[in-house]
Amino acid sequence: MTRLALRIAIALSLLAGCGGESSQEGSGASSSTSTTPEPPAPPRPLRELIGDTFAALPEGVELDMDKVLLGRALYHDRRLSGDETISCATCHMLDHGGAEPRRVSTGIRGQQGPINSPTVLNAEHNFVQFWDGRAADLLEQAAGPVTNPVEMGGEWDAILGRLRADRDFVAQMTEAYGENAVTQANVLDAIVQYERSLATPAPFDRWLRGDDSALDEAAQRGLRAFIDVGCTTCHRGVNVGGTMYQRMGLVHDYFERRGGTRTEADMGRFNVTREERDRHMFKVPTLRNVELTGPYFHDGSEADLAGAVRTMAYVQLGRELTDAQATDIVAFLSSLTGTLPAHARMPGGDGPAGEAPGGATAD
Ligand code: HEC
Ligand code: HEC
Repeated sequence: MTRLALRIAIALSLLAGCGGESSQEGSGASSSTSTTPEPPAPPRPLRELIGDTFAALPEGVELDMDKVLLGRALYHDRRLSGDETISCATCHMLDHGGAEPRRVSTGIRGQQGPINSPTVLNAEHNFVQFWDGRAADLLEQAAGPVTNPVEMGGEWDAILGRLRADRDFVAQMTEAYGENAVTQANVLDAIVQYERSLATPAPFDRWLRGDDSALDEAAQRGLRAFIDVGCTTCHRGVNVGGTMYQRMGLVHDYFERRGGTRTEADMGRFNVTREERDRHMFKVPTLRNVELTGPYFHDGSEADLAGAVRTMAYVQLGRELTDAQATDIVAFLSSLTGTLPAHARMPGGDGPAGEAPGGATAD
Protein backbone atom coordinates (compact mmCIF):
# COMPACT_ATOMS: atom_id res chain seq x y z
CA MET A 1 0.00 0.00 0.00
CA THR A 2 2.81 2.41 0.87
CA ARG A 3 4.46 1.64 -2.45
CA LEU A 4 1.18 2.27 -4.24
CA ALA A 5 0.60 5.51 -2.39
CA LEU A 6 4.12 6.51 -3.35
CA ARG A 7 3.36 5.89 -7.01
CA ILE A 8 0.45 8.28 -6.79
CA ALA A 9 2.55 10.80 -4.95
CA ILE A 10 5.13 10.56 -7.71
CA ALA A 11 2.49 10.96 -10.37
CA LEU A 12 1.17 14.03 -8.60
CA SER A 13 4.57 15.60 -8.22
CA LEU A 14 5.34 14.92 -11.88
CA LEU A 15 2.21 16.79 -12.80
CA ALA A 16 3.07 19.60 -10.46
CA GLY A 17 6.37 19.87 -12.29
CA CYS A 18 4.84 20.26 -15.72
CA GLY A 19 2.10 22.83 -15.52
CA GLY A 20 -0.73 23.25 -12.99
CA GLU A 21 0.86 25.82 -10.74
CA SER A 22 -1.61 25.12 -7.97
CA SER A 23 -1.54 21.34 -8.21
CA GLN A 24 1.31 20.92 -5.76
CA GLU A 25 -0.63 22.58 -2.98
CA GLY A 26 -4.33 22.02 -2.92
CA SER A 27 -4.96 18.35 -3.53
CA GLY A 28 -6.25 16.22 -0.72
CA ALA A 29 -4.72 13.21 -2.47
CA SER A 30 -1.24 14.62 -2.03
CA SER A 31 -1.76 15.57 1.61
CA SER A 32 -3.10 12.08 2.38
CA THR A 33 0.24 10.64 1.30
CA SER A 34 2.25 13.05 3.45
CA THR A 35 3.67 11.84 6.75
CA THR A 36 3.41 15.00 8.85
CA PRO A 37 -0.11 15.34 10.28
CA GLU A 38 -1.48 18.84 9.78
CA PRO A 39 -4.49 20.45 11.46
CA PRO A 40 -7.43 20.61 9.03
CA ALA A 41 -7.28 23.87 7.14
CA PRO A 42 -10.46 25.69 6.09
CA PRO A 43 -11.47 24.61 2.57
CA ARG A 44 -9.74 26.65 -0.08
CA PRO A 45 -11.90 28.45 -2.59
CA LEU A 46 -12.69 26.14 -5.49
CA ARG A 47 -11.31 28.44 -8.18
CA GLU A 48 -8.04 28.75 -6.30
CA LEU A 49 -7.85 24.99 -5.90
CA ILE A 50 -8.31 24.48 -9.63
CA GLY A 51 -5.61 26.84 -10.82
CA ASP A 52 -5.04 25.95 -14.47
CA THR A 53 -6.04 22.29 -14.19
CA PHE A 54 -8.85 22.82 -16.70
CA ALA A 55 -9.60 25.12 -19.59
CA ALA A 56 -12.87 26.15 -21.21
CA LEU A 57 -13.48 25.11 -24.80
CA PRO A 58 -12.08 27.71 -27.18
CA GLU A 59 -14.67 30.08 -28.63
CA GLY A 60 -14.89 31.53 -32.11
CA VAL A 61 -13.08 28.70 -33.90
CA GLU A 62 -13.04 29.49 -37.63
CA LEU A 63 -14.55 26.82 -39.84
CA ASP A 64 -15.45 26.63 -43.51
CA MET A 65 -19.15 25.84 -43.22
CA ASP A 66 -19.42 24.47 -46.78
CA LYS A 67 -16.85 21.84 -45.87
CA VAL A 68 -18.42 21.24 -42.47
CA LEU A 69 -21.83 20.52 -44.04
CA LEU A 70 -20.29 18.23 -46.64
CA GLY A 71 -18.51 16.49 -43.80
CA ARG A 72 -21.78 16.16 -41.94
CA ALA A 73 -23.31 14.44 -44.97
CA LEU A 74 -20.33 12.12 -45.37
CA TYR A 75 -20.30 11.30 -41.66
CA HIS A 76 -23.85 10.04 -42.03
CA ASP A 77 -23.33 8.42 -45.43
CA ARG A 78 -23.52 4.64 -45.57
CA ARG A 79 -21.94 4.64 -49.03
CA LEU A 80 -18.62 4.91 -47.22
CA SER A 81 -18.93 1.31 -46.06
CA GLY A 82 -18.30 -1.85 -48.06
CA ASP A 83 -21.91 -3.04 -48.12
CA GLU A 84 -23.47 0.43 -47.68
CA THR A 85 -25.00 -0.42 -44.31
CA ILE A 86 -22.80 1.59 -41.94
CA SER A 87 -21.73 5.18 -41.49
CA CYS A 88 -19.60 6.93 -38.90
CA ALA A 89 -22.86 7.82 -37.15
CA THR A 90 -23.68 4.14 -36.62
CA CYS A 91 -20.99 3.91 -33.95
CA HIS A 92 -20.68 7.59 -33.03
CA MET A 93 -24.29 8.63 -32.51
CA LEU A 94 -24.95 12.30 -31.87
CA ASP A 95 -27.87 11.29 -29.68
CA HIS A 96 -25.54 9.21 -27.60
CA GLY A 97 -22.92 11.81 -26.80
CA GLY A 98 -20.97 10.90 -29.97
CA ALA A 99 -20.43 7.32 -28.80
CA GLU A 100 -22.59 4.20 -28.92
CA PRO A 101 -24.90 2.43 -26.48
CA ARG A 102 -23.18 -0.92 -27.00
CA ARG A 103 -20.37 -2.63 -25.15
CA VAL A 104 -18.28 -2.97 -28.30
CA SER A 105 -18.87 -1.77 -31.83
CA THR A 106 -20.67 -3.79 -34.46
CA GLY A 107 -19.30 -3.31 -37.95
CA ILE A 108 -20.50 -4.51 -41.36
CA ARG A 109 -22.16 -7.94 -41.51
CA GLY A 110 -22.78 -7.80 -37.78
CA GLN A 111 -19.13 -8.26 -36.88
CA GLN A 112 -18.29 -7.45 -33.29
CA GLY A 113 -15.29 -5.22 -32.82
CA PRO A 114 -12.87 -5.58 -29.92
CA ILE A 115 -13.48 -2.27 -28.17
CA ASN A 116 -15.99 0.41 -27.18
CA SER A 117 -16.25 3.50 -29.38
CA PRO A 118 -15.13 6.73 -27.75
CA THR A 119 -16.94 9.98 -28.41
CA VAL A 120 -16.15 12.07 -31.49
CA LEU A 121 -17.42 15.21 -29.76
CA ASN A 122 -14.57 17.57 -28.89
CA ALA A 123 -12.18 14.82 -30.04
CA GLU A 124 -9.97 17.37 -31.76
CA HIS A 125 -8.72 18.41 -28.31
CA ASN A 126 -7.40 14.95 -27.42
CA PHE A 127 -3.62 14.81 -27.70
CA VAL A 128 -3.83 11.65 -29.82
CA GLN A 129 -6.70 9.61 -31.26
CA PHE A 130 -7.87 6.06 -30.41
CA TRP A 131 -7.63 4.41 -27.00
CA ASP A 132 -4.05 3.40 -27.74
CA GLY A 133 -3.07 6.64 -29.47
CA ARG A 134 -2.21 5.00 -32.79
CA ALA A 135 -3.40 8.01 -34.78
CA ALA A 136 -1.82 11.42 -34.24
CA ASP A 137 -4.86 13.48 -35.18
CA LEU A 138 -8.35 13.40 -36.64
CA LEU A 139 -7.16 13.21 -40.23
CA GLU A 140 -4.97 10.20 -39.56
CA GLN A 141 -7.81 8.68 -37.54
CA ALA A 142 -10.58 9.12 -40.11
CA ALA A 143 -8.91 6.91 -42.71
CA GLY A 144 -8.96 3.98 -40.27
CA PRO A 145 -12.61 2.98 -39.88
CA VAL A 146 -13.51 3.32 -43.56
CA THR A 147 -11.31 0.45 -44.67
CA ASN A 148 -11.16 -1.47 -41.36
CA PRO A 149 -12.67 -4.87 -42.28
CA VAL A 150 -14.60 -5.18 -39.00
CA GLU A 151 -15.84 -1.59 -39.09
CA MET A 152 -16.94 -0.10 -42.41
CA GLY A 153 -14.98 -2.53 -44.61
CA GLY A 154 -14.91 -0.14 -47.56
CA GLU A 155 -12.51 0.24 -50.46
CA TRP A 156 -11.69 3.74 -51.61
CA ASP A 157 -11.97 3.02 -55.34
CA ALA A 158 -15.49 1.73 -54.88
CA ILE A 159 -16.46 4.49 -52.46
CA LEU A 160 -15.17 7.27 -54.70
CA GLY A 161 -16.90 5.62 -57.66
CA ARG A 162 -20.23 5.71 -55.85
CA LEU A 163 -19.75 9.32 -54.73
CA ARG A 164 -18.63 10.51 -58.21
CA ALA A 165 -21.82 9.10 -59.65
CA ASP A 166 -23.83 11.47 -57.43
CA ARG A 167 -24.02 14.70 -59.44
CA ASP A 168 -25.36 16.89 -56.63
CA PHE A 169 -22.64 15.71 -54.33
CA VAL A 170 -19.93 16.29 -56.95
CA ALA A 171 -21.23 19.81 -57.51
CA GLN A 172 -21.16 20.63 -53.81
CA MET A 173 -17.68 19.16 -53.39
CA THR A 174 -16.43 21.11 -56.40
CA GLU A 175 -17.76 24.33 -54.92
CA ALA A 176 -15.91 23.66 -51.66
CA TYR A 177 -12.71 22.04 -52.97
CA GLY A 178 -12.29 23.03 -56.61
CA GLU A 179 -11.74 20.78 -59.63
CA ASN A 180 -11.51 17.00 -59.17
CA ALA A 181 -12.92 17.44 -55.72
CA VAL A 182 -14.09 13.92 -54.95
CA THR A 183 -10.84 12.41 -53.74
CA GLN A 184 -10.03 10.38 -50.66
CA ALA A 185 -8.09 13.31 -49.22
CA ASN A 186 -10.98 15.75 -49.66
CA VAL A 187 -13.60 13.34 -48.38
CA LEU A 188 -11.54 12.78 -45.24
CA ASP A 189 -10.85 16.50 -44.90
CA ALA A 190 -14.58 17.30 -45.01
CA ILE A 191 -15.29 14.70 -42.33
CA VAL A 192 -12.53 16.18 -40.17
CA GLN A 193 -13.91 19.71 -40.62
CA TYR A 194 -17.28 18.45 -39.44
CA GLU A 195 -15.72 16.69 -36.46
CA ARG A 196 -13.83 19.86 -35.57
CA SER A 197 -17.16 21.66 -35.53
CA LEU A 198 -18.57 19.22 -32.96
CA ALA A 199 -17.57 21.18 -29.88
CA THR A 200 -20.08 21.05 -27.04
CA PRO A 201 -19.81 23.97 -24.61
CA ALA A 202 -21.22 22.95 -21.25
CA PRO A 203 -22.20 24.51 -17.90
CA PHE A 204 -18.66 23.78 -16.68
CA ASP A 205 -17.26 26.03 -19.43
CA ARG A 206 -19.55 28.84 -18.29
CA TRP A 207 -18.36 28.27 -14.74
CA LEU A 208 -14.71 28.28 -15.83
CA ARG A 209 -15.36 31.60 -17.55
CA GLY A 210 -16.55 33.06 -14.26
CA ASP A 211 -20.28 32.35 -13.96
CA ASP A 212 -20.62 30.92 -10.43
CA SER A 213 -24.27 30.04 -10.95
CA ALA A 214 -23.43 27.62 -13.79
CA LEU A 215 -22.69 24.82 -11.31
CA ASP A 216 -25.18 24.00 -8.57
CA GLU A 217 -23.99 23.06 -5.10
CA ALA A 218 -23.86 19.31 -5.73
CA ALA A 219 -21.76 19.86 -8.86
CA GLN A 220 -19.43 22.19 -6.96
CA ARG A 221 -19.03 19.64 -4.16
CA GLY A 222 -18.42 17.04 -6.83
CA LEU A 223 -15.76 19.16 -8.50
CA ARG A 224 -14.05 19.57 -5.14
CA ALA A 225 -14.20 15.82 -4.53
CA PHE A 226 -12.91 15.18 -8.08
CA ILE A 227 -9.84 17.25 -7.19
CA ASP A 228 -9.44 16.06 -3.58
CA VAL A 229 -9.69 12.38 -4.43
CA GLY A 230 -7.10 12.80 -7.18
CA CYS A 231 -9.09 12.34 -10.42
CA THR A 232 -7.40 15.47 -11.79
CA THR A 233 -4.06 13.68 -11.73
CA CYS A 234 -5.23 12.20 -15.01
CA HIS A 235 -8.47 13.90 -16.08
CA ARG A 236 -7.46 17.49 -16.73
CA GLY A 237 -7.14 20.02 -19.50
CA VAL A 238 -9.78 21.31 -21.88
CA ASN A 239 -11.34 17.85 -22.32
CA VAL A 240 -11.06 16.77 -18.66
CA GLY A 241 -8.94 14.01 -20.15
CA GLY A 242 -7.17 13.49 -23.45
CA THR A 243 -3.79 14.84 -22.34
CA MET A 244 -1.85 11.67 -21.44
CA TYR A 245 -1.70 7.88 -21.33
CA GLN A 246 -2.22 6.11 -18.03
CA ARG A 247 -2.38 2.52 -16.88
CA MET A 248 -5.85 1.07 -16.40
CA GLY A 249 -5.46 -0.31 -12.89
CA LEU A 250 -2.64 1.85 -11.59
CA VAL A 251 -3.22 0.87 -7.95
CA HIS A 252 -5.44 -2.22 -8.06
CA ASP A 253 -5.51 -4.75 -10.91
CA TYR A 254 -8.58 -3.88 -12.96
CA PHE A 255 -8.38 -6.99 -15.14
CA GLU A 256 -8.21 -9.41 -12.21
CA ARG A 257 -11.23 -7.68 -10.77
CA ARG A 258 -13.09 -7.98 -14.07
CA GLY A 259 -12.59 -11.75 -14.13
CA GLY A 260 -8.97 -12.41 -15.00
CA THR A 261 -8.98 -12.98 -18.75
CA ARG A 262 -7.31 -10.33 -20.89
CA THR A 263 -8.02 -9.56 -24.52
CA GLU A 264 -5.65 -8.09 -27.04
CA ALA A 265 -7.54 -4.80 -26.81
CA ASP A 266 -6.86 -4.79 -23.05
CA MET A 267 -3.14 -4.42 -23.80
CA GLY A 268 -3.77 -0.81 -24.86
CA ARG A 269 -0.75 1.18 -25.96
CA PHE A 270 1.41 -1.96 -25.76
CA ASN A 271 -0.17 -3.02 -29.06
CA VAL A 272 1.42 0.02 -30.69
CA THR A 273 4.84 0.19 -29.05
CA ARG A 274 5.44 -3.42 -27.82
CA GLU A 275 7.10 -1.78 -24.80
CA GLU A 276 6.43 -3.57 -21.53
CA ARG A 277 5.78 -0.31 -19.72
CA ASP A 278 2.88 0.41 -22.10
CA ARG A 279 0.92 -2.71 -21.17
CA HIS A 280 -2.65 -1.67 -20.19
CA MET A 281 -1.85 1.98 -20.89
CA PHE A 282 -4.74 3.88 -22.44
CA LYS A 283 -5.32 7.43 -23.44
CA VAL A 284 -7.14 9.01 -20.51
CA PRO A 285 -10.52 9.64 -22.14
CA THR A 286 -12.35 12.95 -22.16
CA LEU A 287 -15.13 13.18 -19.60
CA ARG A 288 -17.06 15.74 -21.63
CA ASN A 289 -20.61 14.38 -22.24
CA VAL A 290 -19.70 11.28 -20.24
CA GLU A 291 -23.21 11.22 -18.81
CA LEU A 292 -24.41 10.24 -22.32
CA THR A 293 -21.63 7.98 -23.58
CA GLY A 294 -22.04 4.78 -21.57
CA PRO A 295 -21.27 1.96 -21.34
CA TYR A 296 -17.87 2.95 -19.99
CA PHE A 297 -14.22 2.00 -20.31
CA HIS A 298 -12.44 0.64 -23.37
CA ASP A 299 -14.22 -2.68 -22.85
CA GLY A 300 -17.65 -1.11 -22.35
CA SER A 301 -17.97 -3.24 -19.23
CA GLU A 302 -19.58 -0.68 -16.93
CA ALA A 303 -23.07 0.51 -17.74
CA ASP A 304 -23.50 2.87 -14.82
CA LEU A 305 -21.66 6.19 -14.50
CA ALA A 306 -21.57 6.09 -10.69
CA GLY A 307 -20.17 2.56 -11.01
CA ALA A 308 -17.46 3.79 -13.37
CA VAL A 309 -16.60 6.59 -10.93
CA ARG A 310 -16.28 4.13 -8.03
CA THR A 311 -14.18 1.73 -10.10
CA MET A 312 -11.88 4.58 -11.10
CA ALA A 313 -11.44 5.72 -7.49
CA TYR A 314 -10.60 2.17 -6.46
CA VAL A 315 -8.37 0.90 -9.27
CA GLN A 316 -6.62 4.19 -10.11
CA LEU A 317 -6.38 5.78 -6.67
CA GLY A 318 -6.94 3.06 -4.09
CA ARG A 319 -9.90 4.98 -2.67
CA GLU A 320 -13.37 3.76 -1.68
CA LEU A 321 -15.80 6.60 -2.29
CA THR A 322 -18.72 7.29 0.03
CA ASP A 323 -22.16 7.30 -1.59
CA ALA A 324 -22.25 11.08 -1.18
CA GLN A 325 -18.88 11.53 -2.89
CA ALA A 326 -19.90 9.32 -5.82
CA THR A 327 -23.21 11.15 -6.19
CA ASP A 328 -21.52 14.54 -6.07
CA ILE A 329 -18.86 13.54 -8.60
CA VAL A 330 -21.60 12.35 -10.96
CA ALA A 331 -23.30 15.74 -10.48
CA PHE A 332 -20.05 17.43 -11.46
CA LEU A 333 -19.65 15.14 -14.48
CA SER A 334 -23.18 16.05 -15.57
CA SER A 335 -22.04 19.67 -15.79
CA LEU A 336 -19.79 18.49 -18.65
CA THR A 337 -22.81 17.61 -20.78
CA GLY A 338 -22.76 20.25 -23.48
CA THR A 339 -24.83 21.57 -26.34
CA LEU A 340 -24.27 20.39 -29.89
CA PRO A 341 -23.94 23.16 -32.48
CA ALA A 342 -27.16 23.84 -34.39
CA HIS A 343 -25.80 22.42 -37.64
CA ALA A 344 -24.63 19.11 -36.13
CA ARG A 345 -27.63 16.98 -36.99
CA MET A 346 -28.81 15.99 -40.44
CA PRO A 347 -31.89 18.00 -41.44
CA GLY A 348 -33.87 14.79 -41.88
CA GLY A 349 -32.83 13.34 -38.51
CA ASP A 350 -29.76 11.24 -38.01
CA GLY A 351 -30.42 7.77 -36.83
CA PRO A 352 -27.70 5.22 -37.47
CA ALA A 353 -29.11 4.71 -40.95
CA GLY A 354 -27.87 8.15 -41.96
CA GLU A 355 -28.79 10.12 -45.01
CA ALA A 356 -27.52 10.28 -48.53
CA PRO A 357 -25.36 13.35 -49.12
CA GLY A 358 -27.53 14.69 -51.91
CA GLY A 359 -29.96 16.61 -49.73
CA ALA A 360 -27.60 17.28 -46.91
CA THR A 361 -26.74 20.88 -47.49
CA ALA A 362 -30.30 21.82 -48.41
CA ASP A 363 -30.94 23.67 -45.13
C1 HEC B 1 -18.16 -0.01 -36.55
C2 HEC B 1 -18.13 1.10 -35.62
C3 HEC B 1 -17.38 2.34 -36.01
C4 HEC B 1 -17.52 3.08 -37.16
C5 HEC B 1 -18.40 2.79 -38.35
C6 HEC B 1 -16.66 4.25 -36.99
N1 HEC B 1 -16.04 4.20 -35.79
FE1 HEC B 1 -14.85 5.63 -35.02
N2 HEC B 1 -14.36 4.40 -33.54
C7 HEC B 1 -14.92 3.17 -33.29
C8 HEC B 1 -14.18 2.51 -32.26
C9 HEC B 1 -14.47 1.12 -31.69
C10 HEC B 1 -13.14 3.36 -31.90
C11 HEC B 1 -12.04 3.09 -30.88
C12 HEC B 1 -11.03 2.18 -31.56
C13 HEC B 1 -9.73 2.11 -30.81
O1 HEC B 1 -9.42 3.02 -30.05
O2 HEC B 1 -9.00 1.12 -31.01
C14 HEC B 1 -13.29 4.57 -32.70
C15 HEC B 1 -12.51 5.72 -32.60
C16 HEC B 1 -12.77 6.90 -33.24
C17 HEC B 1 -12.16 8.17 -32.95
C18 HEC B 1 -11.13 8.44 -31.88
C19 HEC B 1 -11.69 9.18 -30.71
C20 HEC B 1 -10.73 9.21 -29.56
O3 HEC B 1 -10.93 9.97 -28.63
O4 HEC B 1 -9.77 8.44 -29.57
C21 HEC B 1 -12.67 9.08 -33.82
C22 HEC B 1 -12.36 10.56 -33.91
C23 HEC B 1 -13.59 8.37 -34.68
N3 HEC B 1 -13.62 7.05 -34.29
C24 HEC B 1 -14.25 8.90 -35.77
C25 HEC B 1 -14.89 8.12 -36.72
C26 HEC B 1 -15.26 8.58 -38.04
C27 HEC B 1 -15.01 9.96 -38.59
C28 HEC B 1 -15.87 7.54 -38.67
C29 HEC B 1 -16.38 7.46 -40.08
C30 HEC B 1 -15.41 7.70 -41.12
C31 HEC B 1 -15.89 6.44 -37.72
N4 HEC B 1 -15.27 6.83 -36.57
C32 HEC B 1 -16.50 5.23 -37.96
C33 HEC B 1 -16.01 2.64 -33.92
C34 HEC B 1 -16.44 3.06 -35.16
C1 HEC C 1 -4.21 7.26 -12.99
C2 HEC C 1 -5.01 7.98 -13.93
C3 HEC C 1 -6.50 8.12 -13.65
C4 HEC C 1 -7.11 8.56 -12.51
C5 HEC C 1 -6.47 9.00 -11.22
C6 HEC C 1 -8.53 8.57 -12.79
N1 HEC C 1 -8.76 8.14 -14.07
FE1 HEC C 1 -10.56 7.93 -14.94
N2 HEC C 1 -9.69 7.05 -16.52
C7 HEC C 1 -8.34 6.84 -16.69
C8 HEC C 1 -8.12 5.98 -17.81
C9 HEC C 1 -6.78 5.52 -18.35
C10 HEC C 1 -9.39 5.64 -18.31
C11 HEC C 1 -9.70 4.68 -19.45
C12 HEC C 1 -9.55 3.29 -18.90
C13 HEC C 1 -10.13 2.21 -19.76
O1 HEC C 1 -11.11 2.45 -20.45
O2 HEC C 1 -9.63 1.10 -19.71
C14 HEC C 1 -10.36 6.34 -17.47
C15 HEC C 1 -11.73 6.28 -17.66
C16 HEC C 1 -12.66 6.97 -16.88
C17 HEC C 1 -14.08 6.97 -17.11
C18 HEC C 1 -14.80 6.27 -18.25
C19 HEC C 1 -14.85 7.18 -19.44
C20 HEC C 1 -15.36 6.52 -20.70
O3 HEC C 1 -15.67 7.25 -21.63
O4 HEC C 1 -15.41 5.29 -20.78
C21 HEC C 1 -14.64 7.74 -16.13
C22 HEC C 1 -16.11 8.07 -15.97
C23 HEC C 1 -13.57 8.20 -15.29
N3 HEC C 1 -12.38 7.73 -15.78
C24 HEC C 1 -13.74 8.99 -14.18
C25 HEC C 1 -12.75 9.16 -13.22
C26 HEC C 1 -12.98 9.69 -11.90
C27 HEC C 1 -14.29 10.20 -11.38
C28 HEC C 1 -11.79 9.65 -11.24
C29 HEC C 1 -11.51 9.96 -9.80
C30 HEC C 1 -12.28 9.18 -8.85
C31 HEC C 1 -10.81 9.11 -12.18
N4 HEC C 1 -11.43 8.81 -13.35
C32 HEC C 1 -9.48 8.94 -11.87
C33 HEC C 1 -7.34 7.37 -15.91
C34 HEC C 1 -7.54 7.86 -14.62
